Amino acid sequence: MPSARSLSSLLRNLARPGYARVIAGKVRARFGEDDAARQRALAWYRDIRVRPVDYFAAIDPELAAETAEFGAKVRERAAVVSAEVGFDVDSAGRYELLYFLTRRQRPKVVVETGVAYGYSSYAFLAALARNGDGGRLWSSDFPFFRRADPERFVGIMVPDDLRSGWSLRTKGDGVNLPEMLAEFATIDLFHYDSDKSARGRSFGCGLVLPRLAESGVFLMDDIQDNAWFHDYVMANGPDDPRSKSVVVFGGSNRAFVGGVGVEPLPHPIGTA
Ligand SMILES: C[S@@+](CC[C@H](N)C(=O)[O-])C[C@H]1O[C@@H](n2cnc3c(N)ncnc32)[C@H](O)[C@@H]1O
Repeated sequence: MPSARSLSSLLRNLARPGYARVIAGKVRARFGEDDAARQRALAWYRDIRVRPVDYFAAIDPELAAETAEFGAKVRERAAVVSAEVGFDVDSAGRYELLYFLTRRQRPKVVVETGVAYGYSSYAFLAALARNGDGGRLWSSDFPFFRRADPERFVGIMVPDDLRSGWSLRTKGDGVNLPEMLAEFATIDLFHYDSDKSARGRSFGCGLVLPRLAESGVFLMDDIQDNAWFHDYVMANGPDDPRSKSVVVFGGSNRAFVGGVGVEPLPHPIGTA
């Protein structure tokens, strides 16, 4: 149940140009998603999922230790930022996975949809800076609906010294993605974490994936919300070289991140 304050922020935001249209689209898209297909996809995710910490240790133990240090730094910063803004700046916590994969893959062009407070952006930018080879991040967001003055909080987790390699746009994927795609040829890493409806995923990924490099990585957060990721992998299976290395990450049985083109495990967990 939203509080009176979040309700009044929502109503104020609805009066802003473009908001009502985007929200109406989200509500429409949520209806009519097929629950049986989602349950089948979920069973598959549960069956193949790998815990990120196990994956890190199996692929690169040294980088796993560096990633854990980064994770601790993020949590320290979250406490500082939360004290500054006066509320809890929370996250579902996939930043360690994003940091690890960015360090390991060394992408030059990273695109993400969905920024919110910027945990993912922080992870990408910190890893790109540590890679030290000029990689850049393009981020697309549409600010939260339930806070007054929402733009103020987008990406607030990203420290000032990491912002120089960052292009952040906040007009929604429909406007931001076509603008961004005009700025580079191919993408090395794409993280989708904005509109979670199947329709939103088809729209955003339909624009971006044709520009993913042959050796590129595609990550999608919260794949449990519908069958989109499962269906994408099945549909692209035999013809797409990247689909040979699909990894589903999940620390619990409830929330998953899908990865295509991610380095496969050298051996099944527990048999090293
Ligand atoms: C789950 S949050 C992103 C979390 C972020 N990646 C992190 O790690 O902290 C989803 C974000 O996507 C934004 N969003 C939702 N629909 C969008 C759209 N159509 N275009 C762009 N951003 C959208 C939301 O406002 C929210 O900021």
